[in-house]
Amino acid sequence: MLPFTRPTIGDEELSAVREVLESGWLASGPKVKAFEAALEAYIGGGVAVRVLNSATSALEAALLACDVGPGDEVIVPAMSFAATANVVVRTGARPVFVDVDLHTRNLDVQAVERVLGPRTRVVMPVHFAGLAAEMAPLYDLAARHRLTVVEDAAQAIGTSHGGHRVGSTGNPVCFSFHPNKNMTTIEGGCIASRDPRYVRRIDRLRFHGIERDAAGNVDVPEWGGKWNMPDVGAALGLAQLARLDDLNRRRRALARRYLERLPRHPLLVLPADGAGHSWHMLCVCVDYRALGTTRTAFQQALADRGVGTGIHYPAIHLFSLYRHYGYGPGDFPVAERIGEQTLTLPLFPAMTESDVDTVCGALAELLGEGVR
Ligand SMILES: Cc1ncc(COP(=O)(O)O)c(C=O)c1O
Repeated sequence: MLPFTRPTIGDEELSAVREVLESGWLASGPKVKAFEAALEAYIGGGVAVRVLNSATSALEAALLACDVGPGDEVIVPAMSFAATANVVVRTGARPVFVDVDLHTRNLDVQAVERVLGPRTRVVMPVHFAGLAAEMAPLYDLAARHRLTVVEDAAQAIGTSHGGHRVGSTGNPVCFSFHPNKNMTTIEGGCIASRDPRYVRRIDRLRFHGIERDAAGNVDVPEWGGKWNMPDVGAALGLAQLARLDDLNRRRRALARRYLERLPRHPLLVLPADGAGHSWHMLCVCVDYRALGTTRTAFQQALADRGVGTGIHYPAIHLFSLYRHYGYGPGDFPVAERIGEQTLTLPLFPAMTESDVDTVCGALAELLGEGVR
């Protein structure tokens, strides 16, 4: 059975973790410092990087560092993982959803302009599945309306946009190292920022609000979380980062084979490609209803052919929590269509070309007549 994803763990990762476990220092320490320096060099653009225990913590810390709180509004896409909106709720601010594009699944900048209001403080684009959102018009709009752009780049480590790595030009930008992502620290994430004020706040916010002066005196000037990354995760991250570009090249090659070989069918929507795409996932839409089936039955039929699939994601605004904010069916038709029709196909570096062909063949068979 081909899973929809699988982390790539080899001898380097195993010995890096073993070294830390044998060192006697398991919490945040020298490996965290080394991993942060390696990420700064990798992302480029003179950013400072701080690692945390998840992208969820990183996004929450980033919003707090921007002083987002009750009375504020944060614009987020209706199509993403729930964490994108949940972190806004945690700060006491109100999430304001916008629709996305069917092919890129990234937010629509014109839709952002339409929901701007006097309380809007932050816009949070998501680089869906590793394809960068169109950033120039968004930063332009943010500058005109004095907003901060907090990039949810949880799915985009290694993605480029206009020749620059995601993270090198934005501020602040949050990445995830969850096991399903293009590189992992088991659980983990980071914030890249070019603003020393944010970085100083993140230093505090990720560890109990503690600040130390040059003499080593400790103060707690504000609340802080317990969001630090352990050295075991950082050591794993160092080994993964060393081969991230190779892993992403492999993802890209497999994705392009998919795009060449997937059937062209009126009931199948293929994802957009892009020059700097890191292909964290390959998600299609299938019109199950028009095929006379359901997603569950379609997934089972693929599983019967050895193909595992995932669902990324149901539209966020339809979850019960967000219905309390007054959202409901019909508000964001594209996000809702994706939520109902999406299917994540297997994509991970250890897959072979023939695995891709198996998935394409199984899909063609299930789509049946109508395949061109
Ligand atoms: C778009 C997006 N944002 C945030 C997150 C949260 O990341 P983490 O699991 O590292 O907290 C994820 C994780 O899947 C994600 O896909």
